[in-house]
Amino acid sequence: MAQRVRGVVARGKGEPVGIETVVVPDPGPGEAVVTVQACGVCHTDLHYREGGINDDFPFLLGHEAAGVVESVGEGVTEVAPGDFVILNWRAVCGQCRACLRGRPWYCFNTHNAAQKMTLEDGTELSPALGIGAFAEKTLVAAGQCTKVDPAASPAAAGLLGCGVMAGLGAALNTGNVGRGDCVAVIGCGGVGNASVVGARLAGAARIIAVDIDDRKLETARGLGATHTVNSRSTDAVEAIRELTGGFGADVVIEAVGRPETYEQAFYARDLAGTVVLVGVPTPQMRLDLPLLDVFGRGGALKSSWYGDCLPSRDFPMLIDLYLQGRLDLDAFVTETIELGDVEQAFARMHHGDVLRSVVVL
Ligand code: APR
Ligand code: ZN
Ligand code: ZN
Repeated sequence: MAQRVRGVVARGKGEPVGIETVVVPDPGPGEAVVTVQACGVCHTDLHYREGGINDDFPFLLGHEAAGVVESVGEGVTEVAPGDFVILNWRAVCGQCRACLRGRPWYCFNTHNAAQKMTLEDGTELSPALGIGAFAEKTLVAAGQCTKVDPAASPAAAGLLGCGVMAGLGAALNTGNVGRGDCVAVIGCGGVGNASVVGARLAGAARIIAVDIDDRKLETARGLGATHTVNSRSTDAVEAIRELTGGFGADVVIEAVGRPETYEQAFYARDLAGTVVLVGVPTPQMRLDLPLLDVFGRGGALKSSWYGDCLPSRDFPMLIDLYLQGRLDLDAFVTETIELGDVEQAFARMHHGDVLRSVVVL
């Protein structure tokens, strides 16, 4: 029997979000219904609500979530009712060209639930990133559920579902930071600060955090940054070079998503170094760099999609590190809120007051 639950829905472009009754069908083949325990508020939710992703309103928002599997459909073997899971938006297909070449973290045909959740009048909802977890329950593809140790707090675990994983993975997977590396992170919100943590986990010798907000730099310092640079008052490129013997960092992670900060990242890295772009630009943004510098400085210019994570490989491992006290996910939970508080959380996020507001159900 379909269930009726409360969920946060964006009805139209720029309209404040509100709680609506959401009809969640029973799971069909390959699907699972998950009782959501926690879901973080991410910029992407706000982008949906502002019409910046597409026009498929109404959206059921929320996608950084953890919860317990309630029921599964026919043929589901990877998870079972009662499992504690983190939801992911990379349920790999196993058959696309990326999967077949052994690079499933790039999967180009990721799975979502085949059935639709709806409003009570039957209007189909578009779940954010195929998840829709600002709701008491949600319907997903079973592959979107990654089982992890239930000893973890749901609020902390859910963050691995998006932003924090993006930042950790930018350092660990995409940037391939190694022991002794010098790493600079430009933009220290939830994503960039997770890159700071990732760089520390990987054994970076020097971690330079760059931001225009001293509050974020202070947090970065607490999470393992060895140096901080406020780029409102100091030239970021010069500062990073000075802190690295005049050379630049081995890996520079751009976690803002703007041409100016990308250019800083480009020039703040050592010869043959790596730039990782994890910040998401807007369609209007353009980059203008001397092609000779692109060639002459060598190295790698990479983008990091969702931290190039493979949920089945990375989530259980990172939760184990969290439970061992080696990965402070709790530090990213600035506040816990209720379902009805998402609109106010958007405002706080917009003003840079939080790393993450997390809805706890
Ligand atoms: N130079 C340095 N830091 C900057 C600049 C700048 N010019 N402009 C903004 N910042 C800082 C902000 O002060 C803030 O600390 O970048 C940080 C951005 O953090 P958040 O707004 O909290 O965003 P976050 O969730 O970390 O996401 C960062 O990654 O996944 C993408 O869509 C996401 O593009 C966004 C980026
Ligand atoms: Zn695939
Ligand atoms: Zn997100």
